[in-house]
Amino acid sequence: MIRNIQDDLYYTGVNDRAKIQFENLWPLPYGVSYNSYLLIDEKTVLFDTVDNHFSGVFFQQLEEALNGRKLDYLVINHMEPDHSGSIAILKRRYPGVQIVGNAWTLSMVGGYYGISDGLLSIKDNDELPLGKHTLKFFLTPMIHWPETMMTYETTTQTLFSGDAFGCFGALDGGIKDTQLNVEKYWDEMIRYYSNIVGKYGVPVQKALTRLQSMEIRTICSTHGPVWTEKENVDRVISIYDRLSKYETENGVVIAYGTMYGHTEAMAEWIAAELSERGVKNIVLHNLAVADPSYVLRDLFKYKGLIVGSPTYNNQLFPKVEALLSQIQLRGIKNRCFGYFGSFTWAGAAVKRLAAFAETSGFDTIAASVEMEQAGFESVKEGISALAQAMAEKLK
Ligand code: FEO
Repeated sequence: MIRNIQDDLYYTGVNDRAKIQFENLWPLPYGVSYNSYLLIDEKTVLFDTVDNHFSGVFFQQLEEALNGRKLDYLVINHMEPDHSGSIAILKRRYPGVQIVGNAWTLSMVGGYYGISDGLLSIKDNDELPLGKHTLKFFLTPMIHWPETMMTYETTTQTLFSGDAFGCFGALDGGIKDTQLNVEKYWDEMIRYYSNIVGKYGVPVQKALTRLQSMEIRTICSTHGPVWTEKENVDRVISIYDRLSKYETENGVVIAYGTMYGHTEAMAEWIAAELSERGVKNIVLHNLAVADPSYVLRDLFKYKGLIVGSPTYNNQLFPKVEALLSQIQLRGIKNRCFGYFGSFTWAGAAVKRLAAFAETSGFDTIAASVEMEQAGFESVKEGISALAQAMAEKLK
């Protein structure tokens, strides 16, 4: 069934409830949507396509929405295959379509799909009149690919934003925020941002600066609900603004590895000491079982990070090492950092965490706490001092 977003704007996207991990990395407990939109005017314009596994239902919807009209333009805001995957079939079905994109985009259209004709190259700030509606193109590179751009429809003040302002979560019945209970999407937006876009805070800030001069009534991104209510549009923009500046809420993530429970006992103890000092937002992640997707989400939320690791092969516990690499990859800033560890005969984990602390740019808030075997009594003061310093920082 074809759905309207506005009088002349139709939703032609699909829901993926079968994919286990987005990019074969990030879990999808609520699925994900690949959004595509069709605008009908004197000219007809499709904004992005969908993953090619869903081409069947996608083309059925597109034909229904076109209702006998020909397709004049395909605007490509982003070339990642979850959106560009149906372009080759689209070109075969609608050979007269003009494919609209910037120079980067059109070179990828050739590279991925071997298409070299019917291309309309646009530059930053170019406009494309359609009749009642006019499109204006904004190049927003590196959110999170080099060709990413946004398209603004000036009459209805609708922003087709690509991945920006997107979130995980399929669309259950409704398409627009007014038709959905949107509560589950807020956390899924933070998880999406931290997992997919998190490395690109500076380009996101540049894009947001450009959007400041625009009135935006509706956000049509490529994943998640269409945002139409002013308070939601403002909230979505503010979430992306805050996350891309690495701004935080008060709270602490305690992420740890553990083999036989000694490092875990230290983590629980630190958490309890924090709680005694009035800290309420405390999230513990046992990295042996926690998916990094959720750990990153919480790291982007909270100001405090405490990492613990046993010594393993004279190194960090491998899953702790992997987390540190994910943190470094995203250039996460402005965090208060503490660390602890345990060993049986030769301590290496805490030394490695100290080396990470040196290069991280984080504010290391207390001395490290290192425990030999099950010497809990020996670390009592250190744990208390670490919790006290973190609680002070969060005040
Ligand atoms: Fe949704 Fe970057 O693709």
